[in-house]
Amino acid sequence: MTTPRHHASLLITAGPTHEPIDRVRFIGNRSSGRLGVALAAEAASRGLNVTLLLGPVGTDPGRLGPPDTAARVVRFQTTADLQALLREHLPNNRALIMAAAVADYRPRQGRGEEKITRSSQGLTLDLEATPDLLAECASLCAGKGKTLIGFALEPRDRLRASALSKLERKRVDAVVANPLETMDAPTIEASVFWRGGAEDSTPGAIPKERFAAWLLDLMQARDVWKREEA
Ligand code: CTP
Repeated sequence: MTTPRHHASLLITAGPTHEPIDRVRFIGNRSSGRLGVALAAEAASRGLNVTLLLGPVGTDPGRLGPPDTAARVVRFQTTADLQALLREHLPNNRALIMAAAVADYRPRQGRGEEKITRSSQGLTLDLEATPDLLAECASLCAGKGKTLIGFALEPRDRLRASALSKLERKRVDAVVANPLETMDAPTIEASVFWRGGAEDSTPGAIPKERFAAWLLDLMQARDVWKREEA
């Protein structure tokens, strides 16, 4: 499949965030980053200009895709890091796939401790809500012809309702809904809900590498790379 390269720049986020509690501990989640890495490799192999913002996953993917089109990989740790990177990179990209598992809460700054010590009294952490990065991206690039795709990872019984509500609430172009079992697994069974009402579903659970090709085909079919500024 050919894609005009100058138009086809894709920003992908993947992996968990780590929110520090003190200098040695953090709040994180089980996201492996595998889906975003598969998307970046597949997009790069199609000749897209790809930047992957990758959270703290154990392995360093190095270069992704063929040497001449390999995705750039930029690492982040916290939601605040990712927020700064999105503000920097979003203006230079036509589309964003927000596969990162961003924390919903983080410890409030200000404890300032090097390492919290054990106490028989127990410990209560004071958490604050993180900013909704995808919603911020949507308002930053409203009317600029960019395509924003979010994810919804939810229990099966509320997958559809939750995906449709995120589509509205975050003002994005599509939401990929997948059940909780997807996290840290080699396969994904997903439905994509597009603004305007269209829906696409994978043929059952498929390897994340195959999903990457499937989603990029859908984006191409929906003319994501041809959209103009309003
Ligand atoms: N997301 C984000 N910023 C956050 C939390 C989530 O950008 N602080 C993005 C995720 O990367 C994902 C989408 O929003 O693409 C949905 O994430 P999810 O955690 O399911 O949604 P929430 O906004 O946290 O909504 P809720 O907890 O009510 O389901």
